[in-house]
Amino acid sequence: MATGVDVIDSQHKNLLQMVNEAYQGLDKDVSDIVFQRITKELLSYAIYHFQTEEHLMQEYGYFDECPEEAAQHVSEHRDFSAKVVTARDGVNSEVKEEMEEILTFLNAWILNHTQNVDIKLGNFIKNKE
Ligand SMILES: [Fe+2]
Repeated sequence: MATGVDVIDSQHKNLLQMVNEAYQGLDKDVSDIVFQRITKELLSYAIYHFQTEEHLMQEYGYFDECPEEAAQHVSEHRDFSAKVVTARDGVNSEVKEEMEEILTFLNAWILNHTQNVDIKLGNFIKNKE
């Protein structure tokens, strides 16, 4: 699932690791406070990662040359962040199964987004270099 752009690939690895860490937190029944910290960190890292990609899009002219793909791409990033916010804010109210569902969604989202959307951006960047 590599895009071939090192900075993106290594950030994806970290992002997946953080989702896994949240899963493990659920499994180990960590306290709400700990789980909240994990989801907060996941949100910060996701935002940081999306900024990296969106800066690369600017830098390489992706928004100008592929406006539809770029708009779709950015909108997927926003959906992901919104879902993490749901997880973070729901820590106190949602039952464990619902939290697991959200994490499963995030995990599948990363794999799907990387394979279908980031790979296009990666190819675009590599063609420019
Ligand atoms: Fe992306």
